[in-house]
Amino acid sequence: MGLLHLLINVEVGLLWVLLVAGMDLKVQESLLLKSLGLRIKPSPRSPAPVPPLLWKMFHKRTLLSARDKKHKDACWVEEFGVPGNIIRVFPDQGGFIHREEPQSWLCLQKRLYFNFSALEETEELTMAQLQIKFGQNSYHVPGSEPPFELSLYRASQIALRGMSTHSYSRKLLVEQSFMHLHKSFLFNLTEVAKDWRNAGKNLGLILEIAAPRADGLCSSLDSFVDTSLLVISLSPKQCKGTRTKRSSHYVPVGLSNICKPRRLYISFSDIGWENWIIAPQGYMANYCLGECPFPLTEELNSTNHAILQTMVHSLDPEGTPQPCCVPVRLSPISILYYDNDDNVVLRHYEDMVVDECGCR
Ligand SMILES: *[C@@H]1O[C@H](CO)[C@@H](O)[C@H](O)[C@H]1NC(C)=O
Ligand SMILES: *[C@@H]1O[C@H](CO)[C@@H](O)[C@H](O)[C@H]1NC(C)=O
Ligand SMILES: *[C@@H]1O[C@H](CO)[C@@H](O)[C@H](O)[C@H]1NC(C)=O
Repeated sequence: MGLLHLLINVEVGLLWVLLVAGMDLKVQESLLLKSLGLRIKPSPRSPAPVPPLLWKMFHKRTLLSARDKKHKDACWVEEFGVPGNIIRVFPDQGGFIHREEPQSWLCLQKRLYFNFSALEETEELTMAQLQIKFGQNSYHVPGSEPPFELSLYRASQIALRGMSTHSYSRKLLVEQSFMHLHKSFLFNLTEVAKDWRNAGKNLGLILEIAAPRADGLCSSLDSFVDTSLLVISLSPKQCKGTRTKRSSHYVPVGLSNICKPRRLYISFSDIGWENWIIAPQGYMANYCLGECPFPLTEELNSTNHAILQTMVHSLDPEGTPQPCCVPVRLSPISILYYDNDDNVVLRHYEDMVVDECGCR
């Protein structure tokens, strides 16, 4: 009985350890995801390609941070001159509006809808820019008046089922004439997008393109229209501006087991995140390790308290531990990923890389 009992106990014990370890990992992961602003681990279903602008911004930030950590403000978007640490690109989810009696001069009528549910309540929206892009078709009559007219309305009342677009009450936002179709138009929608965050206010937009002055022009507009909304927001949790300031520039010398940053590369595929994190594939996160021996020197970036603690420790090694070797300066990184709604997001995260360690 004894051996079997023991064996079973060992197995149960092992299973228990594995279970606890597994649970811990899950809990850790969900904590981490939460701090990244995500409900669950995203699993993109039909991910849109990454907009070139986001790639450009990502590379610029990554390059800058490698070159100079000091001049990097993770909570300011230089490209647009607004505060923010989260840049999302929402794909348009609105459908085309088909009318019973089509008018020949009205080429296209489409509802634009951007689902804002990924925006957290605490985030402050600082900018929204609508981009409307056409395919490769182009129409050009030299010297004539621009043949196309683009109108953008804000929908403020839902259409009843089976009714035409006229049952939307709508407000004209922009009207613009244009020549070419293979061009992209940008519209500042900051005010509208801010208002959309109020309950029941986001009914989207209505886009109309017309060619009132010439017959038969609409056919040159059958290239697909692609629209997206770039939204910049600021997450106050991560942008409090509490940075540890640099003290001096001593480099720790001598003993190799003394407290200092050690190299640690975290690979996102190792933690099973490669299918939703677009870039980087991993990064140099580092960690702190080493002794905080008596006497603590200035290079160890210690506090007065730590200095006293090492003194007491040297007198009474059993009763009082050495101070701990911990991160004292961290820097942010930028991550490009798909969120739970398949939006492409560029986000800056504070405190991701250990730059300096100290005895605390
Ligand atoms: C917006 O997205 C959320 C989460 O994906 C979803 O639950 C909700 O139904 C969507 N809203 C609309 C109007 O499509
Ligand atoms: C966009 O509109 C907002 C509010 O109307 C304004 O404060 C902001 O300066 C505009 N941005 C650009 C780039 O024009
Ligand atoms: C303490 O800070 C200095 C400069 O701020 C840095 O060079 C040094 O590496 C830090 N010490 C440790 C142990 O990281």
